[in-house]
Amino acid sequence: MGEQASGESSGKEPIGVIGAGWVGLVTAACFAELGHPVVARDVVEEKVEALNRGEVTIHEPGLAELITGNADRLEFTTDMDRVLDHARLLFVCVDTPPTHSGDADLSRVRKVVDDLAGSGDHVLVMKSTVPAGTGETIIAELPGAGYVSCPEFLKEGTAVEDFMNPDRVVIGVGQGGEADGDAVAGLYEPLGGQMVRTDVTSAEMIKLASNAYLATRISFINEIANVCEEVGADVGEVARGMGLDDRIGPQFLRPGIGFGGSCFPKDVSALKLLAGNSGYHFQLLNSVIEVNELQKRRVVGKLVKHLGPLAGRRIALLGLAFKPDTDDMREASSLVLAARLAAEGAEVVAFDPVAMDAARAMLPGVEMAGSALEALTGADGAVLVTEWPEFHGLDWGEAASVMGNPLMIDGRNFLDPAALAAAGFTWEGVGRAEVRPG
Ligand code: UGA
Repeated sequence: MGEQASGESSGKEPIGVIGAGWVGLVTAACFAELGHPVVARDVVEEKVEALNRGEVTIHEPGLAELITGNADRLEFTTDMDRVLDHARLLFVCVDTPPTHSGDADLSRVRKVVDDLAGSGDHVLVMKSTVPAGTGETIIAELPGAGYVSCPEFLKEGTAVEDFMNPDRVVIGVGQGGEADGDAVAGLYEPLGGQMVRTDVTSAEMIKLASNAYLATRISFINEIANVCEEVGADVGEVARGMGLDDRIGPQFLRPGIGFGGSCFPKDVSALKLLAGNSGYHFQLLNSVIEVNELQKRRVVGKLVKHLGPLAGRRIALLGLAFKPDTDDMREASSLVLAARLAAEGAEVVAFDPVAMDAARAMLPGVEMAGSALEALTGADGAVLVTEWPEFHGLDWGEAASVMGNPLMIDGRNFLDPAALAAAGFTWEGVGRAEVRPG
């Protein structure tokens, strides 16, 4: 693969991608699938070499197949000049992790801007999530270049599908940038989805506000679930009844043990700080963050309710990734949960179908099991942390027999309480009545 993106004569617009992380790889692979010759640049040499051999290191359904299947149109390189020679449209997909203050770290974006200074008539298409106002600053710094804000709304685990079937494509351009906006819009047109043409700062805000709103819905339904536990209502029924209202809709009303991942926690905090730095106190987002932190810890209270003090108790965690279909452990609820359990003196054992390698480094005190059943063996209680579909298929009768005490705290309301109770488990979820064996 990748000696040269040979599709350059295909007649399709050549695409440059800067940053071959999760967003960059999906963007590169999907544009190649749509017939564009793509050159993607990353600074990590070993990663570039592996990608050129067709080895994809992140777990994202369908991505590896797209990369190998479009090898003749996809080239990975460490050489910025190669990307600049190849394409006018440069998709910037570098990460913007949180700094210690919670602001977005723009150093990688800044590096790209520095690299591009004076490099001709390129158009930066900003996919990286940046604070509102960043694009206008860059436009002022790079007078010769074009700039389009095109935030990404892909979800880990379904990113390829999301790319190919967007709900909407947001295109923000500055004064005089309409033709560049048209060029980017043209790339997405075959995919359908509403086109939202707007200014750069509004496009940046659409991204931050969308993630903050979804996170707010999750914290909201988590609090509703907590109230349901007090009053004896079932949050599943409540969410269903709410979601049928067209104005509310059913999505992102699944209660659980808090949202994680590389996006929601970072973007909620970045928006809160952006507001604060601009002179506005974003009261609601403080609560969204606090509720999310408390939600990760509530599971510990439930274990104590059933087991008493956790010192010396063996607790199994089923699933570690921040959600299924990914090996991403960033801001995963399992990290806080494992640390809290360790602080209570519990012995923690865990299993995740794909995130074990990433988890090992981040959870040094946790014993890693080779299977879910092995994790459950001898445990005094278990917590379902990540709703991996394969956990549905476990033999719960066998699981109950190998556990010291068949107790399941279902952090995602994922398992079938009746089936577990029939197998001998006590089951407790989030915002639902507890079910006892028999
Ligand atoms: C999120 C957004 O959904 C994407 O639109 C966005 O592009 C992406 O962030 C980003 O900014 O890059 P992602 O982090 O991949 O995508 O995952 P989600 O499916 O949104 O889930 C985030 C967290 O919320 C997970 O921990 C999940 O378990 C939790 N969640 C989600 C709930 O607890 N309840 C729900 O109803 C939905």
